[in-house]
This record gives sequence, C-alpha cells and structure tokens, in this order.
Amino acid sequence: MPVPAFGLGTYRLKGQTVIDSVRTALDLGYRAIDTAQIYDNEADVGQAIEESGVARDALYLTTKIWIDNLSKDRLIPSLRESLRKLRTDHVDLTLIHWPSPGGAVPLAESLEALLEARAQGLTGEIGVSNFTIALLEEAIAIAGADSIATNQVEISPYLQNRRLAAFAREQGIHLTSYMTLAYGEVVHDPVLQEIAGRHDATAVQVALAWALQQGFSVIPSSTKRANLESNLAATRLRLGADDLAAIAALDRNARLASPDGIAPQWD
Ligand SMILES: NC(=O)c1ccc[n+]([C@@H]2O[C@H](COP(=O)([O-])OP(=O)(O)OC[C@H]3O[C@@H](n4cnc5c(N)ncnc54)[C@H](OP(=O)(O)O)[C@@H]3O)[C@@H](O)[C@H]2O)c1
Repeated sequence: MPVPAFGLGTYRLKGQTVIDSVRTALDLGYRAIDTAQIYDNEADVGQAIEESGVARDALYLTTKIWIDNLSKDRLIPSLRESLRKLRTDHVDLTLIHWPSPGGAVPLAESLEALLEARAQGLTGEIGVSNFTIALLEEAIAIAGADSIATNQVEISPYLQNRRLAAFAREQGIHLTSYMTLAYGEVVHDPVLQEIAGRHDATAVQVALAWALQQGFSVIPSSTKRANLESNLAATRLRLGADDLAAIAALDRNARLASPDGIAPQWD
C-alpha cells in the first residue's frame, strides 16, 4: 500500500496528551499515524487506537526502529515489542529512524532484518528516515529502490532539501516531510500569510499544501482539535505556480533536527 499523503505525527507527545491527540485525529478522519520506539508513546498510541473503535485495517501505522535496535539480533525482537505496545500484529511501515551512527551497524544488516520482518508479516513496507543521498544510494544498492517505501526527512519551507528531493524523484523513492511546519514557526511567516489570505486559508495550510503538491507525504502533529481539523483540510487546498514560486524563495537551509552524535553528514 502506498504511504498515505497525510498522517498524524506524535513526536514529543506522551500519556494523555498523545491519547487525546490520536483520538481526536481519528475522530476527524485521520487514518495514518506516525510513531517511533524512541517517542516512548507506542503504548499510548495503541490504547488510543483501541479505544477509538476504528478498525485496524482502516489504519496505516508507521513506527521507527531506534539506533540501539538496528542489529540483526535486536531489530525483529524490538519490532515485536513495538507491535505489542501498539496492540497489533503488524505495522504498515517500519523505518530505520536514523542511520546507524558512525556506521556501527552495517546498513545491509539492518535492511536485511527489515526485509525479514516484512517477509514474516510484521510490517507491510520498510523504509528509512534521515537518509542523505549517499545513504540512499547505499540502501538502493542493498535492497533495491522498489523495497524502500519512503525516506522520511525534515522538509519545510525553510529547509527544502532540493538536491535530495531531485535525487529521490530520479530514483523513484517517495519522500515524507517531517516538521513541515518547522515546529509551528510557519504560523508567523508573512509570505505564507499573504498567500493564505488569497486562498482563504492559513499559513500552516499553505505550508502543508506546498509539501503535498510536490508529492511529499506530511505528518503534522497537534494537541488541539481545531489545528488537527484545519491541518487535514489543507489536503483540499491547491496552490498556484506563483504561490509555489514565492515559497521556493523561503528556503534558507534552516534545519531543526540534527542531534549531535546521531545526525549524518547532511547533503
Ligand atoms: N523521522 C524523524 O527523525 C522525525 C523527526 C521529527 C519529527 N518526526 C515526525 O514528524 C512529525 C511532525 O513534526 P513535529 O511534530 O516535530 O513538528 P510540526 O508538525 O512541524 O509542528 C508541530 C507544532 O506545530 C503546531 N501546530 C500544528 N498545527 C498547527 C496549526 N494548524 N496552527 C498552529 N500551530 C500548529 C503544534 O502546536 P499545537 O499542539 O499547539 O497545535 C506543534 O507545536 C512528528 O510528530 C513526528 O511524527 C520525525
């Protein structure tokens, strides 16, 4: 199944906050949810899904394998633990959250374990996250571009990642944009606000529509019902060529997620 264009992010949200966010989102019609082992909220997400009554097969669940679990002896057991917490027998997509720092675990070892997890039915698709062009080339050489359902990377109006996007397009690899809203910063952007004014929309919706129109999936997070609702409505907004050109000019290589000791050498 292709990665859904629109889903719910859950980074930083735990306990009742994430339960409420997921419940509200499902109520509003969200059907894809992005979590990760390191978010320490898989059990909360699992509880929220169960309580919502939405059928498992109507949902698209993504989790991500933390860097401590990338070796062949840990990856599948850790994924099974994620499934237990999520109260399901499979996720739809499992990503390598970050490339193994310093190449401590060879990429081939992790990808082979992921392919094995897929063969066992523990995950529908496999993919990567925070992969650069060089790392994607390596992954393609190991597993083939067809096996990599997405590369989930930071892409916002302020970090447009054009070289990576062009490479991914050329290779037929789908990209998922995380932190599309630059963690809420886009709200205050005068260029996005001006475009929004002409479309009877909001700056946040413009940022989401911009990413969607380039073919990226988006997974904005929110703790507020009104924001969750308006973010989903961005899927109906169509920007014009002038709008897209104005947003292209906002790129300033402003990266928010680059953890020390973990982040790769960015493109
Ligand atoms: N693969 C990775 O390494 C990685 C890294 C980072 C993130 N992610 C994924 O990407 C998801 C999205 O990133 P993110 O959650 O960090 O940031 P984000 O979606 O760019 O921004 C979330 C922030 O924007 C605010 N917001 C959301 N909708 C809004 C609206 N309509 N109006 C005004 N403010 C709004 C939220 O506040 P309110 O709660 O007040 O609405 C929250 O503070 C994460 O949740 C996670 O699932 C993946």
